[in-house]
Amino acid sequence: MQAPLTNRDYNPLSKLLHWLMALVIIVAWGVGYYGGAMLHYGVSDGETAQKIWAITLHKSIATTTLFLIVARLLWRASHRPPALADMPKIMEHLTHLGHGALYFLMVAVPLSGWANSSSAGYPIPVAGLFTIPGLVSKTPELTPYLVWTHWFLSWALGVTVVGHMLFALKHHFIDKDSTLRSMMLGKKA
Ligand code: HEM
Repeated sequence: MQAPLTNRDYNPLSKLLHWLMALVIIVAWGVGYYGGAMLHYGVSDGETAQKIWAITLHKSIATTTLFLIVARLLWRASHRPPALADMPKIMEHLTHLGHGALYFLMVAVPLSGWANSSSAGYPIPVAGLFTIPGLVSKTPELTPYLVWTHWFLSWALGVTVVGHMLFALKHHFIDKDSTLRSMMLGKKA
């Protein structure tokens, strides 16, 4: 683990990967919630077709995070982040815990979705361009457990992302430090 930089600015590729990932996660979450929780199979032919459309779109958007997270972890391993703003030790620990949870969930959520869809034997599209093979072989008896796992992890990710956003806003508007500015594209902290 490299020591953090004292300069408060993130490098441009870290910023780009951060905001691209944020955008894809928020859109994938919304479309996943619409297809997974708000629409139900068998209510009517129209609703079944709409659910299949929404879940296919959800998968096509969300699978891109698998590629983004690999790029992000490789970049992060070779580039030091700036030092955290001054804060009490307990807040520093909580910040590291929150960032660790975000990295864990950014890997676990797409993997659980990939496993759930492949266990049901469905194709896994990526950005509407190509499909990737199943993560597990077709095992429909496992699907309900994997759907539940994906549901649980995607809600944990949703709550963690909202907490992360609230803390960023607290830094900016209450603590008035450079934390949020340090992640802004095209700006110096
Ligand atoms: C960052 C990535 C992802 C996020 C944030 C995400 C989020 C969500 C959310 C919020 C739901 C609705 C849960 C509910 O019922 O309340 C959902 C459902 C679903 N997701 Fe994902 N997901 C991601 C990745 C994936 C991937 C990569 C796949 C498959 C390749 C996938 C497949 C599915 C399927 C099939 C459902 C519907 C489950 C059901 O109710 O039958 N997800 N996702």
